[in-house]
Amino acid sequence: MSIPPIRVLAIESSCDETAAAILENGRTLLGTSVASQMEIHARYGGVFPEVASRQHILSVVPVVEQTLAQAHLSLDEIDAIAVTRGPGLAGSLLVGLNMAKGLALGLNLPLVGVNHLEAHIYSAWVMMPNVEPTDEPEFPLLALLVSGGHTELNLMTNHLEYQRLGWTQDDAAGEAFDKVARLLHLGYPGGPSIQKAAEEGNPDRFQFPRSWMEGSHHFSFSGIKTAVLRQVQKLENVSSNIESEYPSLPINDLAASFQKAVVDVLFTKTMKAAREFDAKQILIAGGVSANQSLRYAFASQNEFPVNIPDISLCTDNAAMVGTAGYYRFINEHNDPLSIDVLSTWPLS
Ligand SMILES: Nc1ncnc2c1ncn2[C@@H]1O[C@H](COP(=O)(O)OP(=O)(O)OP(=O)(O)O)[C@@H](O)[C@H]1O
Ligand SMILES: [Mg+2]
Repeated sequence: MSIPPIRVLAIESSCDETAAAILENGRTLLGTSVASQMEIHARYGGVFPEVASRQHILSVVPVVEQTLAQAHLSLDEIDAIAVTRGPGLAGSLLVGLNMAKGLALGLNLPLVGVNHLEAHIYSAWVMMPNVEPTDEPEFPLLALLVSGGHTELNLMTNHLEYQRLGWTQDDAAGEAFDKVARLLHLGYPGGPSIQKAAEEGNPDRFQFPRSWMEGSHHFSFSGIKTAVLRQVQKLENVSSNIESEYPSLPINDLAASFQKAVVDVLFTKTMKAAREFDAKQILIAGGVSANQSLRYAFASQNEFPVNIPDISLCTDNAAMVGTAGYYRFINEHNDPLSIDVLSTWPLS
């Protein structure tokens, strides 16, 4: 007799994407839907929290319905409800959590609260239709989590077990991409627009400082952001001294040189930690792991196998919540319906 599959319906609403997904046996993605608010927040140059939570209210039910339709499933074929409990914007998280509670209560299903950072890590094991599946995890593995709000190195010793080795002391790498993009008058979000500009630029034109945080696994990205600002001011001064009508900045070279410095730090520090802890694999996840230059740096070494999620799973989505939620569910980490959101929630 065959064992029936376990299907998890997952909801993500920690920031500005309302998303749902259904995963079978943890890794197989059956259906997914994302309502992005990017265009709305682009007007403000960043996420406006109250606008974000109101948009989640409008999108959460349709997104769940679309996901079920895509998976050709009905709610009575679901075995557990997973939801991002934190970290993130409280008003945004509450919408997803309340939707999940309503489904769990109405369908009498277990509720599994998922850490958004854990979900980013588990994005590496989501199997999508027509995409080559990534390797099974081999522990210990070194996970670089590099996103809009976080930049940290975690040693993962088993499923759901983490030792946080180092984290940013100021800006997250994604935040630095966003701030530098604003400085260079590139679009929001900053990561993709810096990457695009960098494709046409000379990465060796400007030598921006690398903060190595020697003796620790921590990161710091505020110095490089300030160095880009100083360089821009210097170039603008030179330009206005020669009475140019409009200071034309070498945007592409600035973007390429900035990106090179950030990738250099992320790659070098991750490799160093992987050696120190004898990691069997490196895993890179979070929005910045979509960066082509970062992906290329890791793909170009053969010291460690590297697991990087498909580009579509790097930024926020619910598939990753479903995979992490499945491992929580089978390990009996279910939650009562009384849980609250956690706007800060370190992995360990
Ligand atoms: N190609 C890219 N290159 C560099 N950065 C990128 C790229 N694509 C996206 N990013 C950055 O990734 C970030 C968004 O990632 P993500 O959605 O994981 O962050 P978040 O959910 O806001 O933060 P967190 O996960 O820490 O709560 C943004 O800062 C964005 O600029
Ligand atoms: Mg995220």
